Amino acid sequence: MGITLLTVNTAPSFSSTILQSNLIHSLGLSHHLIALNFIILSFGKKSAQSSAHVKVTDTDFDGVEVRVFEGSPKPNEPLRRSVVYIHGGGWALASAKISYYDELCTTMAEELNAVIVSIEYRLVPQVYFPEQIYDVMRATKYFLKPEVLEKYKVDPGRIGVSGDSAGGNLAAALGQQFTYVDSLRSKLKLQALIYPVLQALDFNTPSYQQNKNTPILPRHVMVKYWVDYFKGNYDFVQAMIVNNHTALDVDRATALRARLNWTSLLPESITKSYKPVMQTTGDARIVQEIPQLLEASSSPLIADQEMLQYLPKTYILTCEHDVLRDDGIMYAKRLERAGVDVTLDHFEDGFHGCMIFTSWPTNFSVGIRTRNSYIKWLDQNL
Ligand SMILES: *[C@@H]1O[C@H](CO)[C@@H](O)[C@H](O)[C@H]1NC(C)=O
Ligand SMILES: *[C@@H]1O[C@H](CO)[C@@H](O)[C@H](O)[C@H]1NC(C)=O
Ligand SMILES: *[C@@H]1O[C@H](CO)[C@@H](O)[C@H](O)[C@H]1NC(C)=O
Repeated sequence: MGITLLTVNTAPSFSSTILQSNLIHSLGLSHHLIALNFIILSFGKKSAQSSAHVKVTDTDFDGVEVRVFEGSPKPNEPLRRSVVYIHGGGWALASAKISYYDELCTTMAEELNAVIVSIEYRLVPQVYFPEQIYDVMRATKYFLKPEVLEKYKVDPGRIGVSGDSAGGNLAAALGQQFTYVDSLRSKLKLQALIYPVLQALDFNTPSYQQNKNTPILPRHVMVKYWVDYFKGNYDFVQAMIVNNHTALDVDRATALRARLNWTSLLPESITKSYKPVMQTTGDARIVQEIPQLLEASSSPLIADQEMLQYLPKTYILTCEHDVLRDDGIMYAKRLERAGVDVTLDHFEDGFHGCMIFTSWPTNFSVGIRTRNSYIKWLDQNL
């Protein structure tokens, strides 16, 4: 078992001019979370609409809202496969009901003849870490009850969890939490993480350095999402950008930083000439005030090596133009070392968020290619 490198797409159709469109650039104003979320939602929140091939219903699983997409069963296969899907948006934005995610889940349900459960977990500022994790766990545990699977005609042996960006973070956290509970440990057949957010300890990985000003998700915006998730103070953002929160004089942080030592976890083709940013003296107040920064439930990349072996077969999609690229590549490496079967699907012309941009006017070629590659992997492995 090792890392299968699925695709390395070299034809760059990445256009920075299109990326810098006003709408996308406005995501940089993410501290106006409620206003921005309102704008995004008012552009595209859809009511549940079934088609000939996919039945769509809004309901709740143990008090957590979900949108369920039911594809038609395959002939001769009465039980369907299933994916629990967790949307992205910095733990603060978007919805299972906006058109981007509604369309993704509809396509998955149709092409995989599967039942897709898209979780409408609660967001910042209504709730903060770890409530988002509790929401996705509560809904997933409810769905896994034999009588619920029977109602939806789902094969209990063919269920995966997936999510993109902050949703990939929640999917990875959920996967890890399930390994701690005997009755849940082997319930998931796979996890598929799309440009996941996996750590808050080092904001100077090569991909953070390389893409610190890339639109859609510049570094300072990602750090603000983290601070918001913990209901922390923006005064710390500048210090966190230079890794002052995990400096060598911050004792609790340094041991954990060894788990994401990218000089040993990343290949030279990625590290290039980038140098680690490790401060000798930093600011211990940051992790005193925000101890959640150092927890594996928020940063799945720093989990105990011992636990990782219990994780299911894993797919990780990464994009070159993304501060989070190395979070994904490092997690793939740690999982591989733990003996987990991992597929790393890297897109040289990919940018953060691209997989949901598949419809006009944001029908990027790389959006369509990432989505097709992801669905193909699910089809072959679920
Ligand atoms: C990082 O910490 C050092 C030592 O406390 C301090 O001198 C420096 O100003 C901090 N950097 C930022 C950006 O806050
Ligand atoms: C990181 O890994 C490199 C290469 O294995 C090693 O030389 C270095 O001491 C490690 N650094 C830390 C902080 O663990
Ligand atoms: C996006 O959609 C438009 C209009 O349907 C089409 O002309 C264009 O070729 C599409 N672009 C891609 C990359 O598929």
